[in-house]
Amino acid sequence: MKRVFILFLLLVLLSACGRADSPPPSPIGKLESVAARVEALLGQMTLEEKIGQMTQVEKNSIRAGDITRYFIGSILSGGGGSPATNTAENWAEMVNGFQREALATRLAIPIIYGADAIHGHGNLYGATVFPQAIGLGATRNADLVYQIGQATAQEMLATGVQWNFAPVVAVPQDIRWGRTYESFSEDTDLVRELGSAYLQGLQSMPEGYAPASGQDLYLLATPKHFLGDGGTIFGTSTQNIFRPYILDQGDMRLDEASIRDLFLPPYQSAVESGAKSVMISFSSWNGTKMHAQEYWITDVLKGELDFKGFVVSDWGGMDQINSDYYTSIVTGINAGVDMNMVPYDYIRFINTMEEAVENGDIAMERIDDAVRRILTVKFELGLFDHPYSDPTLLETVGSDAHRELARQAVRESLVLLKNDNSALPIAKDTSFIYVAGQGADDMGLQCGGWTIEWQGKAGDIQPGTTILQGIQSAVSPNTKVEYSRSGEFDGKADVGIVVVSEWPYAEGVGDAKELSLSQTEIQALTNLRAHSEKLIVVVLSGRPLVITEQFPLADAWVAAWLPGTEGDGVADVLFGDYPFTGKLPYTWPRTDEQLPINKNNTANLADCAAPLFPYGYAFGAADGPPMEWLDCP
Ligand code: BGC
Ligand code: BGC
Repeated sequence: MKRVFILFLLLVLLSACGRADSPPPSPIGKLESVAARVEALLGQMTLEEKIGQMTQVEKNSIRAGDITRYFIGSILSGGGGSPATNTAENWAEMVNGFQREALATRLAIPIIYGADAIHGHGNLYGATVFPQAIGLGATRNADLVYQIGQATAQEMLATGVQWNFAPVVAVPQDIRWGRTYESFSEDTDLVRELGSAYLQGLQSMPEGYAPASGQDLYLLATPKHFLGDGGTIFGTSTQNIFRPYILDQGDMRLDEASIRDLFLPPYQSAVESGAKSVMISFSSWNGTKMHAQEYWITDVLKGELDFKGFVVSDWGGMDQINSDYYTSIVTGINAGVDMNMVPYDYIRFINTMEEAVENGDIAMERIDDAVRRILTVKFELGLFDHPYSDPTLLETVGSDAHRELARQAVRESLVLLKNDNSALPIAKDTSFIYVAGQGADDMGLQCGGWTIEWQGKAGDIQPGTTILQGIQSAVSPNTKVEYSRSGEFDGKADVGIVVVSEWPYAEGVGDAKELSLSQTEIQALTNLRAHSEKLIVVVLSGRPLVITEQFPLADAWVAAWLPGTEGDGVADVLFGDYPFTGKLPYTWPRTDEQLPINKNNTANLADCAAPLFPYGYAFGAADGPPMEWLDCP
């Protein structure tokens, strides 16, 4: 008995040493159930303290001392929200610093810190960047997606970030949307399956992990954006025309039954899989902002689906409800938004909330309900017991094991679109391989948006392996590999590889009416065709591109999506160490004029009116839909 006690003491001491700081003892923590602790805490809170819990501030906007002064409940990093020197240690120090301010309040309620780690902790320099969700959709591998969730959670917790604004469980019906790549697929069932797997991976405690009392979430995931963000109509955005937001913040014009069929199931699954926070969509339904939709948020999500977690707004999302700020906030909170991602002017939000409660426009019960939900999740995350970053996890950031997992994901995400003249696999002892294209040797392009910066960025932005480096290490010592970005070359190669690529983008900035290759890329492709025996094109993109005209030029085409930092996964398959197994997660259009085209509107399309490749297509796949080449005008 005594030995057990000493062991216990040792463990407690050890775990205290493992943390950056130890939290002050909380009398509430001794209570039995999470519900009892929440009620005990809530019973002591002033209105100001409660409103603070409902307030989420962007990290560059919070002034020193204000977390303590205003009892702020949450801080976030927006896209690119890294500390001045972008290392995991500095992230941890930054987040822990905010946490210290929160723990200095009367009730010492910890903040929850959020970030968009949509393809790994991509804002962090040195993190493992996994393929964007579109590539994971191509793998059809839920187990792999679960493991990616686990790995991502570890790299986040190493930096003190306990909340991931992911997975995106949109079901995009129009690939002109700049967020297509953030979602797994245009198919509801696939999104449902992979979204839940990813969420469970993020939230499940790894083997051997010792949870705090009452803890049952390792990290908090956030299915987003509720509801119908992938179903808006091009050109219907009511937002400021000077901002390029088009589809994102547009209008969904569908009847309720279709919405329930197409867009609701991933949320239903996510809630059943333990979702404890959901983010609302910037978009509208029949002209009313989703942030104002009491029916969907309160009746359907919290009522019908029995969602017990809390609802967070999108970035200033409630502000768009009405031109009058007070009306916006009253409407949004009463519709069921529990936490406001303010993100900048928190004083205005706090004052507005106080005024609304005083005026009786927001009932105390609504405030209590929101705070109860937020506190419950904070207890379920074990935040009261370990509010700080876990330094023992620092070694997992960009670790070999995580990179190997990402490399596997890259391999499985590749979709073979065409393979004539046995162009693939490439023999490792090929004498001369010429590589071209802006995507071949550019880490930023292969990672896409939400990497280091909100919009992503070209260039050497993350450590990892480019596709070219992968090719270089796959070939035999005698193989000559040459590269030029432009593809200006007039010798004769045995194999030419052109890696065409979209430029990185995020959100509405990526909305595009035309999805064709650039003139420079077409030129590189045409030139290499003339100067190589066999020509292979690898497409890096956040969605299918219109490649119909160029398609006959190359012997083989591969869709590689946005693979992330482990470009050697592409070479693994090009050189035949692994087979192609990916399948199209989206319908591939033949022309820009066909857009929007998806599996729901192609049933009656034949021949040249049909897409270039149907949903689920993969070249030569026995179980996939076939493809016949047509010469269309
Ligand atoms: C995006 C969200 C994101 C948030 C915070 C918003 O603009 O729509 O998906 O979680 O910003 O970065
Ligand atoms: C932030 C993003 C956010 C966007 C919304 C950007 O400045 O970095 O996280 O989604 O603003 O407008």
